[in-house]
Amino acid sequence: MDKYSKIGVFDSGLGGLSVADMIRTILPAEDLIYIGDSLHAPYGIKTKEEVVQLSENVCNQLLTEDVKAIVIACNTATSAAADRLRAKYNLPIIGMEPAIKPALLNTKGRVLVLATEMTLKEQKFNALAEMFDEAHRLLRLPVPEWVELVENALWQQEHVKQVVTSVLDRIKVPVEAVVLGCTHFIFLKPYIEAYYSGHVKIFDGNEGTVQHLKNVLIQRDMLNDHTEWGCLSIENTKGADYRIKSENLVAWLEKERQNEFKS
Ligand code: SIN
Repeated sequence: MDKYSKIGVFDSGLGGLSVADMIRTILPAEDLIYIGDSLHAPYGIKTKEEVVQLSENVCNQLLTEDVKAIVIACNTATSAAADRLRAKYNLPIIGMEPAIKPALLNTKGRVLVLATEMTLKEQKFNALAEMFDEAHRLLRLPVPEWVELVENALWQQEHVKQVVTSVLDRIKVPVEAVVLGCTHFIFLKPYIEAYYSGHVKIFDGNEGTVQHLKNVLIQRDMLNDHTEWGCLSIENTKGADYRIKSENLVAWLEKERQNEFKS
């Protein structure tokens, strides 16, 4: 493996594509291989041991591609398995971090954290909350149904709107910010913004994770210095249909990014 080797990225399914997209934005020369484990999604309702095992299976597959680093583009797998993967494999393993620090530092009111049950109960999240949430402003809401929504029904816009609304309706107090503590939820951002009529700040951990990846690659002199665009190859444990679905989501993310750039 050398600086021109691929970076491996994986998630329990489609959500981590938003992280792959962020890597392409910040580190465009890197070649990426993405594995979505949609066959076993959602991870958030499994036991910790199961998530560790599934994560190891995907990492073993990525290692056959001689990757130079692995990005766990899944908050649940990061919470449950990152330490074990780092102990087992001899390459940089970069995990997700729920963006509660920037959310708390940039607001004064309530901050709603949406994630899986496992992410919210694991040590990584609770250590961060203890460090930054002195005033107890965080509201935690586990939403496993949103992971399945993104995996299976994202194109049914009316249905998505209803499910998003029914979950956010459970929060009876005003919130100033929302933290997307699961990479799948990035795809629901337009619905969350619409629910709050744009009057809420939305934070996610994608950019922070990719900046961390960049720093690690620089420190190890492993940053790809080519000037042309790298390739993104996508695999999914559910097969060709989900690979095509993934490619469509990547195209959608690229379009969103270009619109944001223009406005
Ligand atoms: C899940 O598979 O349950 C959620 C993935 C995530 O936490 O990012």
